Parts: sequence; C-alpha cells; structure tokens
Amino acid sequence: MAQLTEDRVREVLQTVKFPGFSRDIVSFGIVKSIAITSSNDVTVALHLATREAAVPAQIERDVTAALRQCGGIGRVTVQMTATTTDAPAPPGIPGVKAIIAVGSGKGGVGKSTVAVNLAVALHQLGRQVGLLDADIYGPSVPKMLGATDRPTVTDDKLDPVEKFGIKMMSMALLIDGDAPVIWRGPMIMKAIQQFSHAVNWGALDVLVVDLPPGTGDAQLSLVQTIALDGGVIVTTPQDVALAVARRGIQMFEKVNVRILGLIENMSYYVCPHCRQRDDVFGHGGGGAEAIRRGVPLLGEIPLFTGIRECGDNGEPIVLTAPASEPAQAFLRCAETVWQQIQK
Ligand SMILES: Nc1ncnc2c1ncn2[C@@H]1O[C@H](COP(=O)(O)OP(=O)(O)O)[C@@H](O)[C@H]1O
Ligand SMILES: [Mg+2]
Repeated sequence: MAQLTEDRVREVLQTVKFPGFSRDIVSFGIVKSIAITSSNDVTVALHLATREAAVPAQIERDVTAALRQCGGIGRVTVQMTATTTDAPAPPGIPGVKAIIAVGSGKGGVGKSTVAVNLAVALHQLGRQVGLLDADIYGPSVPKMLGATDRPTVTDDKLDPVEKFGIKMMSMALLIDGDAPVIWRGPMIMKAIQQFSHAVNWGALDVLVVDLPPGTGDAQLSLVQTIALDGGVIVTTPQDVALAVARRGIQMFEKVNVRILGLIENMSYYVCPHCRQRDDVFGHGGGGAEAIRRGVPLLGEIPLFTGIRECGDNGEPIVLTAPASEPAQAFLRCAETVWQQIQK
C-alpha cells in the first residue's frame, strides 16, 4: 500500500465546502493539523468559531465522508473543537424583516451611490425600505437624498427622516455642519449598535446599511454588531483585478454573513450624448466572472455622469431618470438582491 501524504489528504479536504459558502474548509483556515500513521490511518484536527451549532457537526460529517470515499485511507478520525457561544448573535431589529449591508474593499468605488439607488429601487419595487448610513467616517447618504431635516425623538428613540418613500438615519443628521467625525474603534461599535437599534424604524421589508469602506477590524466588528441577513460588495473593475474585492468577500465570510453578491460599479461607460455604451475596461469583466464564480454577480452599473450629478443634487437617478440605462441597471440589481434575500 502506497504511503499517504499530507498533501493528498489536504486535497480531499479542499473538496469539502464550508456549509452555506462556496469556499472550502481549508481556505477558511479551520484545518489545524493532519496526522497520518504508517498504516495510513488519518486523524484530522479541525477548529472553528461559529454562531451556528449545527455547522461543526455538519463539517465533521462531510470531512469523514470525503475521506472515507477516497481510496487508500485507513481509519478516519476527525477531532472537532468548536466555540459556538464565542460571539453572541446580535439582536435583530423588531419589525425589520431583513438587514443587508453594502460594503467595499476601499473608498470611492460608489458604495454609497449604490446603497442609495438600491434602497430607492427596492422601494420602487413595492418594498418598505430603510437606509442606515453607518459610514461614520464619511456619511454621505443625507446629501445624496437631499435630506437636511433633523431627526425628532419619540419614546427615547430617533425617528428616521423620510425621503422619497424610504426611512433614513445617518450620523450626519446629528452633527453640525461639516464637523469631521472622528471615532475610535470601541466608540464606533457602541455608536452603531445604539444607532441601529435606537431608531423607530417601524415595519420594514429591508434595511440597507451603508458600511464604512475597507475591511479592517473596525468594519469587521461593525458587521458583527448588526444582525445582518446578507452582504453586498461593491467593486470597480480595477478592484477586481487588485483583489480588493476578495478582501471584501472575506470580511463577510469571516463573520459568517451570507454574501448576496457583488455589484460591479463604473463597469462600462455610457456616453451621455449619444447613449453609446463603451466597455472601457474590456467586455465581460463581470466582477472578474464574479470572482471566478465564487459569488453571484448582482449587476453591473455603468459609469455615467448623470449618476454623479444626481448624487450631488440629492435626487437619485432611479427617480430622476428611471428609464435611463443606469437607472434600469440599478433596478435590475434591486430585483436580484430581493430574490437573493428571499432565498
Ligand atoms: N456609476 C457611476 N457613474 C458616475 N459617477 C459615479 C458612479 N458611482 C459613483 N459615482 C460618483 O463617484 C463618487 C464616489 O461615490 P460614492 O458613492 O460617494 O463612493 P463611496 O461611498 O464608495 O466612497 C461620487 O461623486 C459619486 O457621485
Ligand atoms: Mg460613501
């Protein structure tokens, strides 16, 4: 009998997907050690932290089955250690059916533009929609919606500002003028936690959260303080090439938030005069095949002057020019996002 190698065992483990994810358990880093005896008995040590008690048992079963199926392996032992109560699941928001976060690997990719147009488009599809601007470093949602009213307080909770049929809350509504918002890590989390829960959202089908850009510890903790049902990642074609998008995906994966998909912004160019489409970055990028098919591609939004103008004027393009190519692209995104939420 040929001696089994660790590489061979690792290959087999790479065929086991983390439950609910397209990635395998090896790339998740949960395989701690592989031991092989001279008679090819295999012991695999796994460790993971999860909020879902069923996940460790599922992985244990899948690993055992995969190794048993593979020829040339003797006895299979799987040692699973899991911390399941490590991070308590954040409480949901009463009355809010689904909370989705819009994130990006870096700033300036149009994350807020997408969050705002997505929220308004979801409303146009007949949903009750809230929009939480959690980008405390650069809260830009109020400006993009042309909302200047100060929130009122009812029963010790903030009343969201209503604009274009959606309910919105942003730190920018609570601070004076252009005062820079400087927060340190723990303060951020506390603020966002209070912020998302201390708002009279009422009944919502979906709450869209505009996250701060980036994938650092602050963003990660923030994602954990909100009971997210899914994450959307906004990228530009360049980010996809630079693997910035992948870091965004990993941020959600690390905290077991389901990835609804990727939206490629500034994907191609539409000439505002002749309406001709130009694939500036080459055709068929599609989020580099949605990171080589690992995540769904929710849509591609063109680079279009009108998108920026509408953002600056405080009237999202899905409202001002609903028939335009970019508005239609946002609407298609909203439809796909809604379908993904229902899944
Ligand atoms: N598809 C687009 N076409 C044209 N301008 C865009 C597009 N998406 C975003 N912008 C503009 O780019 C700038 C940055 O967008 P923003 O949504 O603020 O990015 P982020 O929230 O990621 O920092 C804004 O001026 C916005 O109007
Ligand atoms: Mg922004």
